[in-house]
Amino acid sequence: MTGRLAGKVALISGSARGQGATEAAMFVREGACVVVSDVLDDLGRATAEALGDRACYVHLDVTDVDHWQRAVDEAERRFGHLDVLVNNAGIGIPPHPMVRTTEEQHRLTMSINLDGVWRGIRAAAPAIKRAGGGSIVNISSIDGIVGVGYMASYVASKFAVTGLTMAAALELGRDNIRVNSVHPGVVATPMLDAAPPAVLERLDRLMRQQPIARIGRPEEIANVVLFLASDEASYVTGTGIVVDGGHLAGPWREPID
Ligand SMILES: NC(=O)c1ccc[n+]([C@@H]2O[C@H](COP(=O)([O-])OP(=O)(O)OC[C@H]3O[C@@H](n4cnc5c(N)ncnc54)[C@H](O)[C@@H]3O)[C@@H](O)[C@H]2O)c1
Repeated sequence: MTGRLAGKVALISGSARGQGATEAAMFVREGACVVVSDVLDDLGRATAEALGDRACYVHLDVTDVDHWQRAVDEAERRFGHLDVLVNNAGIGIPPHPMVRTTEEQHRLTMSINLDGVWRGIRAAAPAIKRAGGGSIVNISSIDGIVGVGYMASYVASKFAVTGLTMAAALELGRDNIRVNSVHPGVVATPMLDAAPPAVLERLDRLMRQQPIARIGRPEEIANVVLFLASDEASYVTGTGIVVDGGHLAGPWREPID
């Protein structure tokens, strides 16, 4: 087997569709075996089947500790070991004032976007250590680096992932496990399709102010996740990589001649 992930086994949460599915396909192309996992079972199974023998599907709700253990066990049982975890599963709720966010919406956002990452690291780290080390990649967001109004719970969850990544890197370094975060800008996935038209119009205006004046493609995020998952990133840990078309560099303005 050749490729940038030859011989590696990866577990990717929330990989039935969107960025996770793109990462799964890219990882298999680069020589890895991949455990596709999600709560969308039909879609997840179809995604794994399309990737052939070097992929399988497990039901994994990242809010459930037992599901995590089963997914890690399945990776080891089916493919022999686990080297890479991509904590990709996440939800967004349409922007709205914090004072109108319900306790339930807030708790769900934190339980999936933050606690799901924590549970994933806790379940997978012993297995990755048994394999001799590897890589954990946590999908945060540019909303995990700067604040965004009317997105308080999402922003809080993604900021927390940034810090959790650093803390886990410090703790797991001696086990030869690297831990990094990826901070996408706006990416064309089903998450975005679900956004109300007014939100999409606003995003479109914002995109036009970026150096790269368009929405990102899932492959453009997956390329960076692939790098961090691979041995090419052997000296990269405890940090984050922003993949946002230059969004955080500041707003582009018309020149005044
Ligand atoms: N699309 C964007 O603009 C954007 C920008 C920055 C960061 N992100 C982050 O990227 C990651 C991937 O999102 P995407 O854009 O591919 O969106 P998506 O909605 O297409 O994919 C998210 C996946 O997570 C799964 N999921 C949701 N709840 C789950 C749970 N409890 N357990 C397991 N799986 C669950 C969904 O079923 C889905 O397959 C998310 O963490 C998201 O917050 C997305």
